[in-house]
Amino acid sequence: MDGIKAMKQEFAVIGLGRFGGAICEELSREGMNVLAVDIDEQRVNAFKNIASHAVIADATDEEALKAIGIQNIDHVIVAIVDNIQASILTTVVLTELGIKRITVKAQNDYHEKILNKIGADVVVHPERDM
Ligand code: NAI
Repeated sequence: MDGIKAMKQEFAVIGLGRFGGAICEELSREGMNVLAVDIDEQRVNAFKNIASHAVIADATDEEALKAIGIQNIDHVIVAIVDNIQASILTTVVLTELGIKRITVKAQNDYHEKILNKIGADVVVHPERDM
């Protein structure tokens, strides 16, 4: 058990907007290994010195996620919020790739319901929960 606890957890944060960016900063501050992913090069560049690795990828593209080694990550956090379609597609791809723990931020109740149905382990909806 101690050995497991001592192991550094591997996280990936997909979507480096306000929410994903804050999560990425917090996990990195806590000393976790974080792979930061965004489709936007400027966002990725902003996290090069914060995350362990920062890469450009379209998370709705299964091949692109495989190419960055997402299947080796224990816990993936999807923080694509405004584009519900991209968030849903990304979550489906992650479940198909067998990611052990998938956390997704939902924009609204409808989005949350779909995410729960397609296999997200945790759905966060901070605006509603407040
Ligand atoms: P967001 O959805 O705005 O940003 C998500 C990030 O995901 C972006 O960096 C985008 O490039 C990336 N992304 C999109 N599609 C992708 C794909 N296929 N693959 C990889 N990356 C992809 O989320 P954010 O910034 O956390 O916003 C949260 C909430 O706050 C949203 O509801 C938004 O509307 C709201 N907001 C409000 C603002 C305001 O001034 N009132 C400003 C920013 C956000």
